[in-house]
Amino acid sequence: MKCTFTVNGKPVETEKGGSEALLDVLRGELGLTGSKEGCTDGSCGACAVLIDGRAENSCLVPVAQVQGREVRTVEGLSGTPELARLQRALVTAGVTACGFCVPGMLTVASEHILAGEELDGVSLKQALSGVACRCSGYRRILQVLDG
Ligand code: FES
Repeated sequence: MKCTFTVNGKPVETEKGGSEALLDVLRGELGLTGSKEGCTDGSCGACAVLIDGRAENSCLVPVAQVQGREVRTVEGLSGTPELARLQRALVTAGVTACGFCVPGMLTVASEHILAGEELDGVSLKQALSGVACRCSGYRRILQVLDG
């Protein structure tokens, strides 16, 4: 079964249209390795992507569920000034530590930014609560994202 959808604005087609995880297609077939493979059970958020503008853990999404839909990975999140500013701020501040969680954090924050929501420290912390960071302790990343 084929599955067609768009990734970062480009149409793609995969033969893996069944229960294969979207994360596996993105990383293994399309070479988009920005979305990280952590737990593969939906608990770490490292694999977050935007599907029709909503952040979802791609390790839990069968690729068949994105048929005809728009997927944005962290590689496709620099298209707006707000998101580019956010990415530059993280790099400039040097807060990425191992960097494993940052794509998920950027993706989840982007869902809210692209929806036009104003995020303060509290709402940002709440929004990012599903993304696990194993080495930075969160505080500096949250400060930059709240910046
Ligand atoms: Fe998907 Fe952890 S790898 S939530």
